[in-house]
Amino acid sequence: LARGESPQDLAGRNVVVSAGGTREPLDPVRFLGNRSSGKQGYALARTAAARGARVTLIAANTGLPDPAGVEVIPVTTAVELREAVVAAAAEADAVVMAAAVADFRPATYAAGKIKKKDGKEPDPIELVRNPDILAEISAVRPSAGQLVVGFAAETDDVLVNGRAKLRRKGCDLLVVNEVGERKTFGAEENEAVVLGADGSETPVPYGPKEDLADTVWGLVAERLS
Ligand code: CTP
Ligand code: CA
Repeated sequence: LARGESPQDLAGRNVVVSAGGTREPLDPVRFLGNRSSGKQGYALARTAAARGARVTLIAANTGLPDPAGVEVIPVTTAVELREAVVAAAAEADAVVMAAAVADFRPATYAAGKIKKKDGKEPDPIELVRNPDILAEISAVRPSAGQLVVGFAAETDDVLVNGRAKLRRKGCDLLVVNEVGERKTFGAEENEAVVLGADGSETPVPYGPKEDLADTVWGLVAERLS
């Protein structure tokens, strides 16, 4: 759809989108991170705004410019992302978790920079689990009738893995990408299948992240009405 031609099917709706990738600090100069660019989440925020929604974008380390007309809340870690999503979800009609959330964080944070010790191998890094934000929001449904959407990058048996993940998370829609080679990370384009808890399966051909975003919002709008 060209600019200004978007359906206004999210008018009066309040949506929350998370984007980017969390960073889990080890010490003041180092972190564990991932390669999520944030582009898919930003495309979701822009297209939702174009369809008339009030949009809160919770952005983890994207370095991307704020989309016009969108409230942007910057966060760094998974724990901060959870706080921001839980707070924003209280009044949201839809929550879309496009962010890559670190599954683990270092068990301890070193207040001073970790230094090499003469002739010694480094200590192993102990990790602990981060909260599962998508599963939590799906279970709690902070606002009545709320729609919850997750994203998953899978390899191998993509659809089987996607179906299992959709059930495990308890969300309404799961956007499943197949990862590998040129696909997904940092790319401008994306290819996916959107799985619904109602059994629906919507393929989205390889194309701009805006097109995938518009397909997601179409499915959300149809389920909200
Ligand atoms: N997610 C989340 N909180 C986490 C991990 C993931 O909210 N701690 C969300 C992501 O934002 C995404 C969805 O869950 O929308 C699926 O992420 P994924 O990493 O595929 O799921 P995991 O349950 O972590 O499974 P895996 O072990 O395959 O990484
Ligand atoms: Ca994960």
